Order: sequence, then C-alpha cells, then structure tokens
Amino acid sequence: MADHQKEIEEFGNNDDFWLFGYGSLIWKPPPHFDQRVPGYIEGYVRRFWQASEDHRGTPEAPGRVVTLIDRAHWDTLTDHHEPTERVWGAAYHIRSSKVAQVRSYLDIREINGYSIQFTPFQPSSPSHSSPIKCLVYIGLPENPQFLGPQEPGALARRILESRGPSGENREYLFNLEEALLGLSAESGDWHVSDLVARCREIEEREGKGVGRSLV
Ligand code: BEZ
Repeated sequence: MADHQKEIEEFGNNDDFWLFGYGSLIWKPPPHFDQRVPGYIEGYVRRFWQASEDHRGTPEAPGRVVTLIDRAHWDTLTDHHEPTERVWGAAYHIRSSKVAQVRSYLDIREINGYSIQFTPFQPSSPSHSSPIKCLVYIGLPENPQFLGPQEPGALARRILESRGPSGENREYLFNLEEALLGLSAESGDWHVSDLVARCREIEEREGKGVGRSLV
C-alpha cells in the first residue's frame, strides 16, 4: 500500500493531527482545536472551481467554492489568472482525544466532493519554524463537482447569484478575502481579490440586490 494511502486510512484512529484550511476553515475554524497557526503550502493553486450544491448553492443552482489544483495539473490548463506561489491559510492542531469528533464533524461539513491528502505546511510564526505535516481537503479533478477553469466575469456573476444552506455565496468570497488579508502582509490571493473587485463592480452598477430574487 502506498504510504500516503496508509496515512489516509489510519487517519482518525489515534494520533493528534494538524488540519490546513485554505477556504472557509480560515474564518470558521473546526471545533476542539487547541492551536491555530497562519502559514502556507506550496505546489497547489487555489481556485473557485468547485461547485457547491450543499453549502453556498443548491443542486438546482450550484454556487462556487474553492478547491486546490495540483500545480503540475494547473500548468496543463488555460486559466485567466496567474497563480500565487504559495497558498496561504491556517493550520489547526487537534489533540488525540478529539480526533474522532473532529473527523466526523469534517466528514459532514466537507463531504460534497472533497478528498483528503497530506501536505507539508510552513508556519509563518517564528515559534514554529519547521514544516508541519497537515491534512487538507481537496476537490480533485475527478470529483463531479470539479468544474475546471472558469471565465472570471461569469464566475463573479454566478457567485453573486448563488446561495445555499450556509448562506450567500458572495459572503463566502468576501469573508475569504478578508480572512486572507488578515493572515500576513503577503497572504493576498489575486484570483480571490479580482473576483471580489468584479462582484463589487457589478453590485455598484446593478445595485446590491443583484441575483437575490433568484432562490
Ligand atoms: C478549507 O477551508 O480548507 C476547506 C473547507 C471546505 C472544503 C475544503 C476545504
């Protein structure tokens, strides 16, 4: 069995672990964490390329949330935004006595198309200088919710028009930008900021209620 597969199968059984959040986990932490550390991972590109039918959209009108694309795969695609070299986010430490509870919380919260992987995380804080092995949820290209490259204007409009059980899709986008800018002086993400600028521009032009009658 490949080492990473063994790691995944054993996860949840015993030891403490670190969880990396690059989307809603940055501003909406998991339960029972005892440490939160800002930092980044490398080798991935964050994109709003995952359809959300259960959180920020519905099966009839899916919203858009972030996933990570392996950088080598991203290099084969035609995208509209340049990548950032680092994916900034926050890592949460879960102690061993809480692993089972957090695991079942995450399985419920993140179930719609996401798979788990392990990746090295570089903390930005001087108190943690070496990389930490982190678990991360990724919507892989094989999952049915993975959409691939999206034209930014159409993507911004879709985000403005979508909402689901967790709330408005625009709120997810705006929260993500604010949370990223709060992590460090270097943690902005052009893909996210450009979508925010496009949404604000549409709202200015068409009024704040854009799309809100389309439930
Ligand atoms: C995250 O915040 O890292 C995340 C949240 C939901 C699904 C996948 C990732």
